[in-house]
Amino acid sequence: MILVIDKYLKLELINLSHAEELYRLTDNNRKFLDKWLPWVKHTNSDKDTKEFIKGCLKKHIKGEGFNFVILYKNKIAGNVSLVEISKFRNLAEIGYWLAEEYNGKGLMTRSCKALVDLCFDELKLNRVIIKCETRNKASQRIPERLGFYKQGVLKRDGFNNDKYVDHVQYSMFKREWVKRSTDSK
Ligand SMILES: CC(C)(COP(=O)(O)OP(=O)(O)OC[C@H]1O[C@@H](n2cnc3c(N)ncnc32)[C@H](O)[C@@H]1OP(=O)(O)O)[C@@H](O)C(=O)NCCC(=O)NCCS
Repeated sequence: MILVIDKYLKLELINLSHAEELYRLTDNNRKFLDKWLPWVKHTNSDKDTKEFIKGCLKKHIKGEGFNFVILYKNKIAGNVSLVEISKFRNLAEIGYWLAEEYNGKGLMTRSCKALVDLCFDELKLNRVIIKCETRNKASQRIPERLGFYKQGVLKRDGFNNDKYVDHVQYSMFKREWVKRSTDSK
């Protein structure tokens, strides 16, 4: 599956052919990403990235999640995913990261918008959530720019760099997303 956002930006469902380039990007951005993402320090070779991708492929088959590489000018710039799809709760959670050099261009805001459209239009879900560390203001700006509302703070919800961390949870319901896009026309 490929979601084309514009001439330069597209999302491609992750597969094993991405492993080497994705690992290299992770490795080159280790310091930038490690502050927020607990898996970075456990990713130490392209073999680790391959194992991660194999896990994603299993989720794709079961419809439990969809992971995409973000391609900007045909190079991998980062990753955006439906980390978890809950059919029982009718919702999905989005997770993301971008390499440092690709920050500040709006790539993630537009990528997340495409995934929210996918959730509501194709997957027929009712809610999308995004959880960001309370200290991670750049990450929080993404759901805020897209009009998500802040549901509250989940205390000690994550564990990173030997510390429990708090998350802000943002939500978007399908009816609000549809209303926003109708109002903006
Ligand atoms: C969180 C993260 C994805 C945010 O990246 P980002 O570049 O700030 O986000 P975007 O790609 O949406 O770009 C937004 C910026 O581009 C600008 N921009 C330019 N064109 C834009 C457009 N068409 N649409 C939206 N924003 C645009 C915005 O003004 C904004 O800049 P500002 O922050 O100075 O106001 C990135 O910093 C990251 O990966 N960090 C490390 C890992 C991480 O924290 N992951 C999240 C864990 S919850």
